[in-house]
Amino acid sequence: MLSRKDLAAERILITAGPTQEAIDPVRFVSNRSTGKMGFAIARAAWRRGAAVRLVAGPSALATPRGVERIDTVSAAEMLSATSRNFPWCSSLIMAAAVADFRPREPAAQKLKKNSRGLALDLAPIADELPRLAARKAGRILIGFAAETEDLEVNALDKLRRKRLDMIVGNDVSRSDAGFAVDTNIVTILDADGHIETTPKLSKDEVADVILDRLVARRAGKTRSTALRVSR
Ligand code: CTP
Repeated sequence: MLSRKDLAAERILITAGPTQEAIDPVRFVSNRSTGKMGFAIARAAWRRGAAVRLVAGPSALATPRGVERIDTVSAAEMLSATSRNFPWCSSLIMAAAVADFRPREPAAQKLKKNSRGLALDLAPIADELPRLAARKAGRILIGFAAETEDLEVNALDKLRRKRLDMIVGNDVSRSDAGFAVDTNIVTILDADGHIETTPKLSKDEVADVILDRLVARRAGKTRSTALRVSR
């Protein structure tokens, strides 16, 4: 099938997968993300003509054809790779499930078993998106919201708090959507108040829906810029 090249003018930076926060040299804190959704977006974006850089957390998935992959492990590594590559991009899609907490002081040596148990002291990890939003210029910023309850309310709050153009809300409590499965059901909210819930689709199909919204938003931006210029 010949595909449309409607993203030929875009350089898209995508984050995908989980992060791992070290407890000691052999143990870590992580989450259930596998990278499937972010990798599907990278694959579709390249097929539609975009230049694509994929900042990946630990993921067993193969690098999609044509995509430049940057491997990272911890949230700090992922967020600094994203920040470093941000000037390059024209759009950012943050599909990664970045950790919100990390062990405050990872042990240098493997922790030994003991009968008292172990209390982990977790330090917060700062949210990167508002910092990137401050350097936004003409870029389109798309985030994800992984939720187990009140999807729309929480996603809308994140859209505003993180100053995004669009947020893709994901109910990760379902067995046919969210982490580690090949299908997804998402609710896409944008900064103009549009809201749309997809039926159950393959992650490849959801990727195309998200990229369709990106194309539409870019067309809107270009139109408003052209209007400003012509006056
Ligand atoms: N994100 C980020 N920097 C972080 C954590 C998350 O930029 N340190 C991004 C994610 O990649 C995602 C979006 O923010 O696009 C929402 O992530 P999520 O974990 O759902 O939101 P949080 O703000 O962490 O809210 P909470 O965990 O309380 O639901």
